[in-house]
Amino acid sequence: MRIKKGNLQKVTFSIVGFGGRANAYLTALEENYQDRFELIAVAEPDKRKQQRIKQKYGLKDENIFDTDVEFCKQERLSDVVMITTQDRLHYQEVIQLLDKGYDIILEKPIAATLQEVLSLKEISKKYPNQLVAVCHVLRYSPLFMKVKEIIDSGVLGKIITIQHNENIGYYHFVHSYVRGPWRNDQESAPLILAKSCHDLDILLYLTGKHALKIASFGSLSEFNHKNYDEKRMAPTCIDCKMEKECPFSAIKIYSSNKIKSVVFDMSSIDKIRENLGNSNYGRCVYQCDNNVVDHQSTIIEFEDGITATFNISAFTRKINRSFKIMCQYGEIRARERPYLIEVYNFKTETEEKFEIVQPQGGHGGSDRSFIAHFMNAYLGNETFKSTLDDSIEAHVMAFLAEESRINHGIPQDICDKMK
Ligand SMILES: NC(=O)c1ccc[n+]([C@@H]2O[C@H](COP(=O)([O-])OP(=O)(O)OC[C@H]3O[C@@H](n4cnc5c(N)ncnc54)[C@H](O)[C@@H]3O)[C@@H](O)[C@H]2O)c1
Repeated sequence: MRIKKGNLQKVTFSIVGFGGRANAYLTALEENYQDRFELIAVAEPDKRKQQRIKQKYGLKDENIFDTDVEFCKQERLSDVVMITTQDRLHYQEVIQLLDKGYDIILEKPIAATLQEVLSLKEISKKYPNQLVAVCHVLRYSPLFMKVKEIIDSGVLGKIITIQHNENIGYYHFVHSYVRGPWRNDQESAPLILAKSCHDLDILLYLTGKHALKIASFGSLSEFNHKNYDEKRMAPTCIDCKMEKECPFSAIKIYSSNKIKSVVFDMSSIDKIRENLGNSNYGRCVYQCDNNVVDHQSTIIEFEDGITATFNISAFTRKINRSFKIMCQYGEIRARERPYLIEVYNFKTETEEKFEIVQPQGGHGGSDRSFIAHFMNAYLGNETFKSTLDDSIEAHVMAFLAEESRINHGIPQDICDKMK
């Protein structure tokens, strides 16, 4: 436990970047900690969001800021600040706000370059009494908590090897990583960092070991300009002759309600043209300025000879994680949606199944569980499970996987960077 707040009755919060993530955490606070938290300040450029927050939480005008920069100039306004802006802003915000004395809830990725991540490792040592709670929310997912419990019980012996898959889902991939905010590593980060530092973190957590080496392969094989046929396609789906047969058509995806975070008026051709047609989300997937890979396969060597393979793919029907943990005396197979764990014990030759009841809220209930864990750590004496220190290694792994991928799979030494 890095903080000692004594008998704090109410935790005060500020938010920097009031988007989807901030909203998810605030909802979790409202549902379970109505009387134990207060929102004091917000930094958010969107004026409509500012108004909504002001009305709902009764914020004073002087505590509403247009940018992170303005907020960071103020003296500390609350106990905790949530840093929930987009990836590239996190590093500058966290170093300034640590210096102002805040405890911090920090969205992943914690920074957008390896150099920044390594410097955060040093910077965090300067503030031993402040908590930086990194949103590696999978550690708080009921499914992964149960798997961890099974591993730690020792019934299956030691972990030998793991196969882990992140199935991004074809329509989610084109929404977020071809047309949306995470499409270009110069604006956000490489796919394995932006999407999967979570997964590398969960492998570290489940094995309880440090990672030694990493190698990776992958490319952007589908969603690139080479696959654009100018005779038959068009820069926007609304003008494309192939639209009806294209599974990645923006018209199909946004009419289907599969994507909930962005809503367009699709009531007539004119409305579609006016809204979707003029938006980044209406572009042909073969004509965007995306460069992040659409599939990547990574191999990791951990301490004690444990190995893992990790596959990320855009080309899946479902959006979920699925994995197999092979131990000395048995295997664990598990997947999300439906949330199911199957454990086979080689000694007893029996199988046990655990159906994890789908918890309410984002990320299979992990967002809510993350906030509960944070509040318990803050108001009580629980040790927090994903501090800044705990999160550095997964980020280093992600950058080195990307380095390996760019260099056609040359293995990279993780221990060397973690020294
Ligand atoms: N933990 C997870 O599972 C998880 C899941 C999705 C996204 N994320 C990460 O969470 C972060 C936020 O994602 P999101 O989906 O909420 O994004 P979002 O775009 O919905 O929200 C970001 C907000 O920041 C605001 N903003 C932009 N510039 C700003 C500035 N200079 N100062 C203050 N506010 C500014 C935007 O207007 C927006 O409201 C990203 O880093 C993302 O990678 C984490």
